[in-house]
Amino acid sequence: MKLNSIGLPVVESEMIVKDLNGLLSSYQVYYQNLRGIHWNIRGKRFFDLHVKFEELYNDAQLQVDLIAERVLTIGGNPLHTFEDYIKNNGISVGKNISNDEKAVHLVVESLAGLLKIERVILEKSAGINDEGTNAMMSDLIKSQEKTIWMMNAYLEKNL
Ligand SMILES: [Fe+2]
Repeated sequence: MKLNSIGLPVVESEMIVKDLNGLLSSYQVYYQNLRGIHWNIRGKRFFDLHVKFEELYNDAQLQVDLIAERVLTIGGNPLHTFEDYIKNNGISVGKNISNDEKAVHLVVESLAGLLKIERVILEKSAGINDEGTNAMMSDLIKSQEKTIWMMNAYLEKNL
């Protein structure tokens, strides 16, 4: 089995790179979903939600950078064009959403989509002892599950 310079199997790492690029693409769509609702939100909860969505997109931007740099760390090239992001996106795109509940629902739906992709990467990275990618997925999953709980509490919905 051929290993790369950090001791991970080359072929399997290439497969993880492909999945990480799918996650990166979906994260960029999530980021734009958040910008859209930050800009378009209207109504009585404007001031709370406008700020909350900004907090979430700032965090999403940091995660995007970490995912892209993980791709490079394990020997791949991170996707960086809108064209590639649209092609490899795995989550719903929100457009012209101004209603508060619909906006929060879009966040929940987007995060649920990201979680699905991350759990696949979690399993594959565990299979080749790629602890760096695996730990990154664990952190993302833990924090997104918590955000979903908070968004559902806002919507007064059970899990
Ligand atoms: Fe703003």
